[in-house]
Amino acid sequence: MESLDHLRDEILRLIRQATSLDALEQARIAILGRKGRVTELMKGLGALEGADRRERGQALNLLKGEAEEAIGHAARRLEDEALRARLAQERVDVSLPVRAEGDGRIHALSQTIDEIVAIFGEMGFSVAEGPDIEDDFHNFAALNIPPEHPARQEQDTFYLPEHRDGGRKVLRTHTSPVQVRTMQSIAPPIRIIVPGRTFRSDHDATHSPMFHQVEGLVIDEATHMGHLKGCLIEFCRAFFDIDDLPVRFRPSYFPFTEPSAEVDIGCSRDGGGLKIGAGGDWLEILGSGMVHPKVLANCGIDPARYQGFAFGMGIERIAMLKYGIPDLRAIYDNDLRWLRHYGFLPLDLPSMTGGLGR
Ligand code: PHE
Repeated sequence: MESLDHLRDEILRLIRQATSLDALEQARIAILGRKGRVTELMKGLGALEGADRRERGQALNLLKGEAEEAIGHAARRLEDEALRARLAQERVDVSLPVRAEGDGRIHALSQTIDEIVAIFGEMGFSVAEGPDIEDDFHNFAALNIPPEHPARQEQDTFYLPEHRDGGRKVLRTHTSPVQVRTMQSIAPPIRIIVPGRTFRSDHDATHSPMFHQVEGLVIDEATHMGHLKGCLIEFCRAFFDIDDLPVRFRPSYFPFTEPSAEVDIGCSRDGGGLKIGAGGDWLEILGSGMVHPKVLANCGIDPARYQGFAFGMGIERIAMLKYGIPDLRAIYDNDLRWLRHYGFLPLDLPSMTGGLGR
C-alpha cells in the first residue's frame, strides 16, 4: 500500500504556507473538509479487508490528528500576528485636541447650588438633605403652623391621597422641614444648609410647581441677630461677587421665626434693564429670622439654653438674577441651545475663585 509520508509532508507544508486565517481555513477544507485529501482516503477504507483495513485506518487517524494539531498551532500563531498588527496600527494619539462639540455643561441650577454650598462651606456650614414627601408635622406643625393657620393656604400645598391612619402626606412646600429633622437628630451646635426641591401648586412665568430652595439653620448658645445679619450680608456679597453690595433687612413675618426679616439687595431698574449692586431700588431675595422658641421646643431643643437663626431662599430666583435668565420655565425645558448658552464648563466655579477668599 502507498505510504502516507509523502502526503504528510504535503499537508504540513500547505498548513505552514497559509499566511492568513482565511488561507488557513482554505487549507483545512482542502485537507479535512468533506472532499479533502484525508477524508477521501478514509472513504477508500471500505474497499480494504481485514488487517490491511485496520492498519490503514490507524495510519489515517494518526495523520488526521497531526493535521488538526498543526492547524490549531497555525491558527494561534496567525491570531497573535493579527492582534499585534492591529495594536501597532490603532495606537491612540493622546496629543490630539478634544473635540469641542462633545463637551457637556453643568446646568445653571446645579452651578448655582455648587456656588451656594461653596460659600457657606467656607463659613463652616455642612449640607443636610431630607425627603421630598413630608408629613404634616415636619412641614407645618413643628414649624409653628397649626392646621387653621393661613400659611397653609398661602403655600398652595400638593396633598397626597389620605393614608389608612387618616393622615395626609404633602410634597414639601419649603426646605424648612429639614430644620426640624436636623434638630431632632443632632444636638447643637448646628450649622447646616439644605438645598433641595420644593413644590407648590402655582404655574406662570415666574412660578413653577417644582422649584428649589436652600435653607440655612444655625443653633448655638449665644447665636444672635447680629450673626444672622453678618452671615447673610457676607453671603449676598460673595454670591453676587460685589464687595459693596447694599443689603437691607426689612421686618417681616414667618410663623417659625421671631423676629423675622426679609433681605433685599440694592439694584437699579433704570432704562428697563436690571442692574444689581447700584442705584436706589431694592430687590427681595430671601427670608430669615431668629428660630421661634416654640419651634426649638417642638424639636426637643431647650429654648432657655439655645437660640439661633434660619433663612430660606429660592435658588431659581437668585440664579436668574445672577445669570440674567429671563424666563423661569426655560430652566426646566432642557432645550440644548439653552443648556449650552446658560451652562457651565465643569471647572468653571467663579465664586470659588472670585467671590470667596478675598
Ligand atoms: N420657609 C420659608 C419659605 O419657604 C423661608 C424661610 C426659611 C424663612 C427660614 C425664614 C426662615 O418662604
